[in-house]
Amino acid sequence: MTTDFLVEMKQITKKFPGVLANDRVDLQVKKGEILALLGENGSGKSTLMSVLSGLYRPDSGEIFISGQKYSFKSPRESIDAGIGMVHQHFKQVETFSVAENMILGSHKSKFLVNAKSVENEIRDLSRGYGLEVDPSAKLWQLSVAERQRVEIVKMLYRGSKLLILDEPTAVLTPQEAKELFQVIRKMTEMGESIILITHKLNEVMEVADRVTILRGGKSIATRERSQVDERELARLMMGQDITMPQKRNPAKLGNDVLILDQVSAAGDGERAGLSNISLTVKEGEILGIAGIAGNGRRDLAETIVGLRAVTKGRLIIGDKEVSNFTPLQIIDEKSVIFLKIVWGPDWCPTWEQ
Ligand SMILES: Nc1ncnc2c1ncn2[C@@H]1O[C@H](COP(=O)(O)OP(=O)(O)OP(=O)(O)O)[C@@H](O)[C@H]1O
Ligand SMILES: [Mg+2]
Repeated sequence: MTTDFLVEMKQITKKFPGVLANDRVDLQVKKGEILALLGENGSGKSTLMSVLSGLYRPDSGEIFISGQKYSFKSPRESIDAGIGMVHQHFKQVETFSVAENMILGSHKSKFLVNAKSVENEIRDLSRGYGLEVDPSAKLWQLSVAERQRVEIVKMLYRGSKLLILDEPTAVLTPQEAKELFQVIRKMTEMGESIILITHKLNEVMEVADRVTILRGGKSIATRERSQVDERELARLMMGQDITMPQKRNPAKLGNDVLILDQVSAAGDGERAGLSNISLTVKEGEILGIAGIAGNGRRDLAETIVGLRAVTKGRLIIGDKEVSNFTPLQIIDEKSVIFLKIVWGPDWCPTWEQ
């Protein structure tokens, strides 16, 4: 049987207790394309891809790869069928080399492997795709972007024909994200297919060939990228017209309500925490904090609410120093201050710029 599609998922339903995470979802991937899988938090994207990568078994529905029907009983079976998923939080062994991480758990590790020949194989493979990694480097020496590259090369090494990337740019700088997009474009030219999970509209517009939109566990629409704009994508994703924020009147700023004066805070284990952060928030002000995942945004929020110890500097709320108050004591300061910490809407089209 011939088919235009490398992968077809038909009427996939997956229930968790009390949640219908995927509700008769259809999804098709063409050979050599970049398909964006777009949806809000909780719309069912990761669940659907976990079904495709053999982590979950669907309650009903069918999966076809190159026209052949599969029912995966394990991730191994999905990998053997050519599906490779790069999760947002990679499971890697820090003290192992890149090459050792790649052969770990692969079929090839069942046999005696010649480390040098594996390293050469990986070096050739990564160069071919423009994904330079040093196979002999230890994982702990690498940046997050390099570790992500290792995961991608690992999937290629295992023979993936379809690469699923779960929100890959969340851990990258804008420049690294651009480089990743160049690489995945090159990969599609070499015959690889890609599913890019995202909730950033600009990424869909920048790199995808087609986009499938999930909402509330259902597949809502599939569009050619050339036939949509960000407004239409936002409408499909949210189920209603989105009014972009109007120009706000300049806020009337009052007194300082929060001051961080050269604050340092403890990290977790070997990970650094905060180092010498100074900022001031005034009454009536919205202060944006930008940064890539893993660079201290959460540590900052946790320090302000008393969940993380201040090791240096001063944390001041209202006109009172509250460094190393307990969360309860800080909540009690609310007679002085109402401070709301909001995690950014990642899908917001203007957020990145
Ligand atoms: N293992 C699980 N057990 C129970 N409920 C789950 C499980 N995994 C996901 N869910 C629920 O299923 C729904 C879909 O979740 P899923 O993680 O697939 O969404 P998502 O689109 O990937 O969201 P996000 O953008 O936040 O990653 C959500 O309501 C979620 O709470
Ligand atoms: Mg997800």
